Amino acid sequence: MNIKGKKAFIAGIGDDQGYGWAIAKALAEAGCEILIGTWAPIVKIFTTSWQSGKFDPSRKLSDGSMMNYLKLYPIDANFDTPEEVPEATKENKRYKQYEGYTVSEVAAQIEKDYGKIDIIVHSLANGPEVKKPLLETSRQGYLAAISSSAYSFVSMVKYFGPIMNRGGSAINLTYLASERAIPGYGGGMSSAKAALESDTRTLAWEAGRKWALRINTISAGALGSRAARAIGFIGAMIEYAQHNAPLQKELKSAEIGNAAAFLLSPMASAITGVTLYVDNGMHAMGVAVDSPALTPQEEAAFP
Ligand SMILES: NC(=O)c1ccc[n+]([C@@H]2O[C@H](COP(=O)([O-])OP(=O)(O)OC[C@H]3O[C@@H](n4cnc5c(N)ncnc54)[C@H](O)[C@@H]3O)[C@@H](O)[C@H]2O)c1
Repeated sequence: MNIKGKKAFIAGIGDDQGYGWAIAKALAEAGCEILIGTWAPIVKIFTTSWQSGKFDPSRKLSDGSMMNYLKLYPIDANFDTPEEVPEATKENKRYKQYEGYTVSEVAAQIEKDYGKIDIIVHSLANGPEVKKPLLETSRQGYLAAISSSAYSFVSMVKYFGPIMNRGGSAINLTYLASERAIPGYGGGMSSAKAALESDTRTLAWEAGRKWALRINTISAGALGSRAARAIGFIGAMIEYAQHNAPLQKELKSAEIGNAAAFLLSPMASAITGVTLYVDNGMHAMGVAVDSPALTPQEEAAFP
C-alpha cells in the first residue's frame, strides 16, 4: 500500500465495534501511525476500556503485535471554533475537563504535536431524531443531523487541509439511504448522507486544486455498531442484506477497513470524488428476492 509511517487521524472511534476502529486497524496493519478522535463525552469510557484490556482481542494485528495510537484527541465535530461552544456545553460535566475539542482546535493541536499529517477519516454521524420518519422530523432535528453528519466533514477538510501533506487523502462513511428510500433511517439522516456524498464530490474538486488532496466516500453495508444499534432495526437490515445481496455472506467491518486503506493509499492515486460501495453488492439490486410476492417457482429462478 506504501503508507508505512504515514500519520492518520481517524475521527469517530468510541469502541472496537464500529467502522472507525476497523479503518484504524487496517491502516495500522499497513504501518500507519494512528491518531484517534473520540467524541468528548465518551473519551473516559473509551480510555478506561482500552486501559482495562477490554479491546485487547480486537487490537491484535496479523503479525501478533497490538494496534496502538500515538494520541487521542477529544473532539466534538458539531463545533468548528471555541467561540461556537455554548456555555451549557462548556459547563457540562462530560465536557468540563476538556479543552480544545472543536474541529479547528484539534487540527491546530495535531499540527503542534506532529506537524503535517497524511490521512483523515470521518467515521461519525448523529441524528437526534433518527427514529422518526422524515415527515415527523422537526426542523431542528433535521438541521442537527446535517450538522453532525455532513457539515462536520466539510469542517474537517477545511481545517485539516492546511495541515496535510500534498497527495494526502480523506474519506467519510455514507449509507445507501442517501439515494434509495430505506424506511426507518429517519430524522434527516438520509438527507445528511445525500449531502455528505455531494460534498465529497465538491470537496474533491476544491481540496484537489487547493492542497492536492483526494476525497472519497465509502457507502458501507449494514453493521451492528453502537450507532446503528441505537437506530433500532439494524439486525433486520443485516439479515435483509444476507437474503438479498449478490454476495451471501456476513459483511465484516474489516472489509470496509481494507477498502478504506486502499482508497487512502497511493494505490488509489487517481481516484477522487467517488462513492465506493462496500456492501456485498446490495446497492446493485432492484428486486428483493425474498419478497413474499414471488412464488416458489419465481424464487427458484433467482438461484
Ligand atoms: N453501521 C452501519 O450499518 C453503517 C452503514 C453505513 C454507514 N455507516 C456510517 O459509518 C460511520 C461510523 O458509524 P458506525 O456505524 O461505525 O458507528 P460508531 O458508533 O462506531 O461510530 C459513530 C461515532 O460517531 C461519534 N460521534 C457522534 N457525534 C459526534 C460528534 N458530534 N463529534 C464527534 N464524534 C461524534 C460517536 O461517538 C461514535 O463513536 C457513520 O458515518 C455511519 O453513518 C454506518
